[in-house]
Amino acid sequence: MKRKIAVIFGTRPEAIKLCPVVLTLKADPAFDCKVCVTGQHREMLQQVLDVFGVTPDKDLALMRPNQTLGGLTSRAIAAIDDYLAEEKPDVVMVQGDTTTVLAGALAAFYHHIPVAHVEAGLRTWNMQSPWPEEANRVLTTRLAKWHFCPTENNKANLLKEGVPDANIFVTGNTVIDALLMAKEMVRKNPPTIDGLPPDLMQSEVRMVLVTGHRRENFGDGFENICTAIRNLAERFPDVHFVYPVHLNPNVREPVGRILGHHCGKNVHLIEPQSYLPFVALMNRAYLILTDSGGVQEEAPSLGKPILVMRDTTERPEAVASGTVKLIGTEREVIEREAALLLMNEKEYAKMAAAVNPYGDGKAVDRIVKVLEGV
Ligand code: UD1
Ligand code: UDP
Repeated sequence: MKRKIAVIFGTRPEAIKLCPVVLTLKADPAFDCKVCVTGQHREMLQQVLDVFGVTPDKDLALMRPNQTLGGLTSRAIAAIDDYLAEEKPDVVMVQGDTTTVLAGALAAFYHHIPVAHVEAGLRTWNMQSPWPEEANRVLTTRLAKWHFCPTENNKANLLKEGVPDANIFVTGNTVIDALLMAKEMVRKNPPTIDGLPPDLMQSEVRMVLVTGHRRENFGDGFENICTAIRNLAERFPDVHFVYPVHLNPNVREPVGRILGHHCGKNVHLIEPQSYLPFVALMNRAYLILTDSGGVQEEAPSLGKPILVMRDTTERPEAVASGTVKLIGTEREVIEREAALLLMNEKEYAKMAAAVNPYGDGKAVDRIVKVLEGV
């Protein structure tokens, strides 16, 4: 008999990392794969579903403007609880460290449904950073049965917490599977990007790609990041700064206020990009400034130097490989580190080697194979 597996996700990065798994599970006769989206994100989730051609079987449509952690978490647990009572899956799959992940794992636990956790074992060992994601990871580990780790280091973290060795599987990160699929789609059909000068993608001018959304950077962190970008854009008028601005209002307010007036010449504030244009932007970039988790995993495999505007990282593999540097959110440090890479070719070359600490693009096959056998 087919095993029914409910894949539950809600935000852009979860969709990017789970859509390749969904496509494989749907094609596998051993599984009856149901997709439930919480709709924690709306527009940014739909962009990814469209790219991979995944249509949810259930959409809980939970997003509210400027939602709070408590409000979203409580609505998600209640809605997923109803969904599981009706659908009665044999397995629930979640990915990563968002509110949807914790709520999905907890609701499944209450129904005695075993949980498969994809991208397990990432840790900063600091519950305040990233906040609330580190807590979501730790709690989801306690609730999950099968743990799919991107790296050996992630596995070691789980062993330290007493997770049984037999339940941990090192698979690589499914983001690399997604990235390879996207690169091929971009190669066949180069996307256009609204809001950029028409020839920027084809020209030789240097481009710095910026993203940011972490809750612990709200307030001073974002003020510093935006001021640093403004100062860098004035100091390097021949470099273009392209910033697809996350839809969170706590991000859009400081970005619009500090960088809005500088738009047009060499600062380009654009809407969050669908995955294919964003992959094209990463590929085109000279340098990436970000606080994103997923971008820290993708950029090394594209050979792009990346400055991470955070104080901690749960992805030490990319730092060890030399492509990622952790620089925090002090304005002077962001300016100094970015300027160094823009001015010093030797320093730039040291960081620009392509490496693949997060996998070979076969994580999905490994995960599905394990699930076929357990
Ligand atoms: C969430 C995750 C974070 C993840 C990030 C990926 C939590 C607590 N946070 O943060 O771990 O790294 O997604 O981007 O789970 N909004 C829209 N449309 C969208 C998406 C967001 O309008 O498509 C706005 C809404 O006003 C929403 C707000 O952004 O209330 C915040 O969304 P939320 O998912 O709570 O937090 P993120 O900052 O996106
Ligand atoms: N991304 C995207 N469009 C954008 C910005 C990012 O498709 O405008 C992709 C990016 O390639 C990565 C993922 O979204 O795969 C990262 O999402 P985000 O930074 O929002 O979340 P995090 O990874 O930090 O949880």
